[in-house]
Formats: sequence, structure tokens, C-alpha cells
Amino acid sequence: MTAEHEATRLIRAGNARRELPRTVGPPIQRGSTVLVDRAADLYDERKPTYGRAGLAAQEALMSALSELESASAVRLFPSGLAALTGAILAVVQAGDEVLVTDAVYKPTRRFCDRVLARFGVRTRYFAPDAAPDEVMSLASPATRLVVLESPGSLTFEMQDVPAIARLARHHGILTLIDNTWGAGLIFKPLAHGVDLSVQALTKYVGGHSDVFMGSAAAAAPAMVEALDRAILDFGWAVSPDEAYLMLRGLRTLPTRMERCGSSSLQLAAWLAQQPEVARVLHPALPGAPGHDIWRRDYVGTAGLFAIELRPAPGPAVDAFLDALTHFGLGFSWGGFESLALNADPQFEVRSRKPAFAGPIVRLNVGLEDPGDLITDLRRGLDAFAGAH
Ligand SMILES: Cc1ncc(COP(=O)(O)O)c(C=O)c1O
Repeated sequence: MTAEHEATRLIRAGNARRELPRTVGPPIQRGSTVLVDRAADLYDERKPTYGRAGLAAQEALMSALSELESASAVRLFPSGLAALTGAILAVVQAGDEVLVTDAVYKPTRRFCDRVLARFGVRTRYFAPDAAPDEVMSLASPATRLVVLESPGSLTFEMQDVPAIARLARHHGILTLIDNTWGAGLIFKPLAHGVDLSVQALTKYVGGHSDVFMGSAAAAAPAMVEALDRAILDFGWAVSPDEAYLMLRGLRTLPTRMERCGSSSLQLAAWLAQQPEVARVLHPALPGAPGHDIWRRDYVGTAGLFAIELRPAPGPAVDAFLDALTHFGLGFSWGGFESLALNADPQFEVRSRKPAFAGPIVRLNVGLEDPGDLITDLRRGLDAFAGAH
């Protein structure tokens, strides 16, 4: 037998099959190609034959998220927005109508108004704090889906999710929630009758502001099939490295959320006493809008909330934000670091502008010492008061 050339030997070198030692995390298995043992396995649909649907790390993450969401299955998407748009696309068709909360994450709204409209799906918006029967009064025979986001991630209106889900199901209408604030941990949408529980894992599950991913969880086999079909047809995939990072974040989710939540409540209670603050929008704060629903349905709180400042011109809000040193200025949330932003420019797209007399500042409370964060906020409020 002639010896093979080095170029040929190097293709297979190091590829001997071996049992992997067990580690705490799953192996990061990189693979588009999946090798099968026999020709008969190539078209065996019961076994993985291609890597796009995910290998060891993605499977471990989906399984862990199913546990978190009390779901029969969870599917992964390349970002939170992709999970929202993907789950919507999985269940609508031309001629359908979708009812969406007016406080929905702005890019989700853009998708509805631009993409869904282009494919013959009409979107109508309902007030984020509308009572369940007000929401359902908008439904028509064409209504296929109600899209919820509770609390709204800028103005923190709470929706009566169990009641809306119950009424919708009674009318044969599906419900989907953006549950990024609840993270599948402090609120379990599927247990409250919601059909599709979606979250941006980018926020609390990832927890470190360095990786994008989204998930859609479902209980009913028909919903899981719909998600699978959409994933197959559109070709969404997530990398094993990022799935690994998400799983690592998930391990500490309860501990981080507990700390972010309790610090945020401490800050919220303090802010409510400050003369420059007109109102605190934090569902877990007694007396705040939506608190009764939060107390009934949630087992904890996230660290994201907002304040309404006393009426003041824009530069005073900028002075507040620019004086902060522990709060970074940025759009995301759910990470270990505190963040702040002025929310008003994002209200322009809404069907009805929220009725606030003063400017809204959103705060993401991270893992810093809450006393230091309060000192920082006082500095910001002093700058705000001094600027008008
Ligand atoms: C409420 C909400 N949903 C979804 C998303 C989208 O997540 P991603 O950035 O992973 O697409 C965000 C991001 O800011 C968000 O705030």
C-alpha cells in the first residue's frame, strides 16, 4: 500500500473518536458538518445530520431554558428581536390581524409596521394598561395573535396577562409575550396560559452585556412545531460559543436578579422621597402603577424601572444624566452594570403619547453597592435642579 500524502493525512489527523471527560459546562461543539457512521444514516431524520439546529452547547441551553420556562421546548434565535419577530412569523399568515401593546419594544413595532404590513398582516395597537376586555374588544374574526410586553420596558405599565390569555384563548386567538423583564424566572408566562413566552436572553440571562440571543418557549406541541418550521424555513442559527456564554449566565441568574431587584427597590423608595422626582414607575414598589398585578403574578422583581422628573427642559435632563458616574449611559439592561437613559424620544412612535407632565428617565440597576448608586443619583438630581 502506498503511503498517503501529508495533505491527506492532515485532513483526518487528530480526529480519532474519543470519550470526552465530563466538565461542568457542555462541550463547545463547533460543527456545520455532522458525520454519520453509515450511508443509511444520511437521511435518518431522527438523528442530527447538520449543525444548524445546534449541537451539544445549544442543546444544553435549550434544555436548561425549558426548565426555567416550565416549557415543553425552547428554541433559540440570534437576538431577542429575532426571537420576537421569528415567533410572530411562525404563527401569522396573510390576511391575519395582530393586536400589539402600544408600549411594545420599538423595533418590534417597526417589524409589525413594515414587514408584517408588507406581507398582508395588519397591526393594531392597544393602550398598554388597557383592561383585558378592552383589549379583546378590538379583536375581529381576522385576529390571530395578541402581543404583550409586561411591564412595558420604558413606561412600566403592567398587563393582566392571565386574564388576557384566558380571554384570547376563549376566542381562538394566540398570545405572545416579551417577558424579558421577567426573564422566565420571576414570571412564568406559560403557567399563566400564554402560548409563546419570548425573551431577549441578551439582558438578564446573559447578564454581562456581551452576547446577543433570544428564546421562544412553548408548552403546546403545535406551537413547538410552528417554531421549528419557522426556524427550518428561515435558517436561524446560534453559535455554540454564544450558547455556552448564555448557559453560564443562566447559572447565576437567580442570584443576580435578586440583588439587582432588591437594590432597585431600595433606589426606587429613595427616589420617591426626592423633591425633583414626580413619580416612580416601578411595578414592585407599593403604590406604583401596576403594583397589584405585580404582587399577584410575580415572585420577584427585575432591576429596571423609570422615574418621572418634575417638568423641566431637555438640557436639565441631560445635566442629570451627564452628572452620573456609576450609571453608564446606554440602551441595554439586565447586565451587571447600572445604566440610565432619557426615554422621551422613544415615545414619538406610539399611537398615544404617554400622559406624563415631566421627562422620563429609565434606570437599569446593576450589582454595584446600592448606597453608592444613591449617592450618584443625588449628584444627578443636584445637577438637574441646578440646570433650570
Ligand atoms: C423589551 C426588549 N425586548 C427585546 C429586546 C431585543 O433584544 P436584542 O437586543 O437581543 O435583540 C430588547 C433590547 O433592548 C428589549 O429591551
